[in-house]
Amino acid sequence: MTDLMLVIETAKDAARLAGANLLKYFVDDELVMRNKSESGGGTFDLVSDADLSSERIIGERIRATFPKHELLGEEGLGRDVDVDAAEHLWIIDPLDGTNNFAHRLPHFAVSIAYYHRGVAVVGVIHNPATDQWFTATRGGGAFAGDKRVSVSADRTLSKAMLACGFYYDRGHMMRKTLATIEEFFSHEIHGIRRFGTASLDLCMVGCGQFGGYFEYMLSPWDFAAGRLFVEEAGGRVTNAFGGPLPLTASSLLATNGHLHEWMLAVTTRNHP
Ligand code: IPD
Ligand code: CA
Ligand code: CA
Repeated sequence: MTDLMLVIETAKDAARLAGANLLKYFVDDELVMRNKSESGGGTFDLVSDADLSSERIIGERIRATFPKHELLGEEGLGRDVDVDAAEHLWIIDPLDGTNNFAHRLPHFAVSIAYYHRGVAVVGVIHNPATDQWFTATRGGGAFAGDKRVSVSADRTLSKAMLACGFYYDRGHMMRKTLATIEEFFSHEIHGIRRFGTASLDLCMVGCGQFGGYFEYMLSPWDFAAGRLFVEEAGGRVTNAFGGPLPLTASSLLATNGHLHEWMLAVTTRNHP
């Protein structure tokens, strides 16, 4: 196993460099957002030079310390990597919450995870706009800044505050997500939020702000770091059917543990 402290320091340094880079674009009025689909219209999946340059910065920083490690990033790093076979794998979302970023909402993040033989070992999530840092290490706990955090103690859906996310699809998947939200309201939850940055949604479950969070389609870079944060904060993470989370595209349910079976009953019933 690679030196854990060196992995943590490398992940943090890469997140710091990428975060500073994102902030430069965030205040630039000339920032151009492009649609990821070459055909244009019908998809709302945006990308910009901010995403691409941040991924390049993170890749270069990790490779400077760990030249033999495999990298998987949303914008093309390690497209062909075999995630299950890789001994040392870094999973990177260089800008999570691109839509917020495009609309100048200061709720976005850099998410970097290190996996050893398919097991999450380190997760670092950084919101440069608020200078928030979320760090988790396997067996070492979850920290917001230097404060150790844990999930909420809520045991019933009534009074719980939940979170959700929408995949870019505006058809079947969206209708199923809306049906799920409606069913949660029938359980008299206090509310449900859609803040638009999966990695930060997961951090907010770990910090006890949300009792649970679900989304029906995510990519590994969206949850690779945040799932460890929830688990190390004492919560539980599965796909939205209750099965183990793979390192491929998947639905996701993350909770404080107490609410898992309650939420699972709803997400399973409405799963697209
Ligand atoms: C998205 C965000 C969003 C979630 C989407 C993701 P991106 O990531 O995490 O909250 O609902 O499913 O794709 O595209 O901003 O990196
Ligand atoms: Ca993302
Ligand atoms: Ca992204």
